[in-house]
Amino acid sequence: MADPHGHDATVPAPSASADSTSADTKSARYAELLERLEGLLEGEPDWLANLANTAAAVYEWLPGLNWAGFYLVRDGELVVGPFQGRPACVRIALGAGVCGTAVAQRSSQVVPDVHAFPGHIACDPRSRSEIVVPILGEDGTVTAVLDLDSDRVATFDEEDRAGLEAVAELLARVIDWGRACRS
Ligand code: SME
Repeated sequence: MADPHGHDATVPAPSASADSTSADTKSARYAELLERLEGLLEGEPDWLANLANTAAAVYEWLPGLNWAGFYLVRDGELVVGPFQGRPACVRIALGAGVCGTAVAQRSSQVVPDVHAFPGHIACDPRSRSEIVVPILGEDGTVTAVLDLDSDRVATFDEEDRAGLEAVAELLARVIDWGRACRS
């Protein structure tokens, strides 16, 4: 059924904002985010649609973010993908910055203070902490990264890492990455 704004009420998109109190612990918030994303993405292989909806859902549902989105591995470098927030750096070399480090090390990077991270790339000077989670393809190579920025120090911890790695696993499973990584 459509609401007064023409939205289909059957689509399980996030309807509450990060200010909602329905999920008042971090782990509960991530559990609900994952449930919402499973409803949005399941059965849809299109990389662009799924990354766009995921960036929007993450940005709306998690508190304290000033940027949330993706960089895709294309022709040996990272290129910005769907995101929410201010315009960002377009290309990042593998191994450079927090994003390139996550690809080079094939591991999540939790950065409590970006000013203390050697080589951090400041796309938005407001960003003070950051988390980057790699998304692995079927062959185990990194196809993309999920990047979240906050304007506060130490926003992200191990619960964020676990929650976002679950999101990355969902994306790895549902998306047809062969099309996403073509230039
Ligand atoms: N800070 C990132 C660059 C991307 S922006 O945060 C959107 C980095 O150091 O890789």
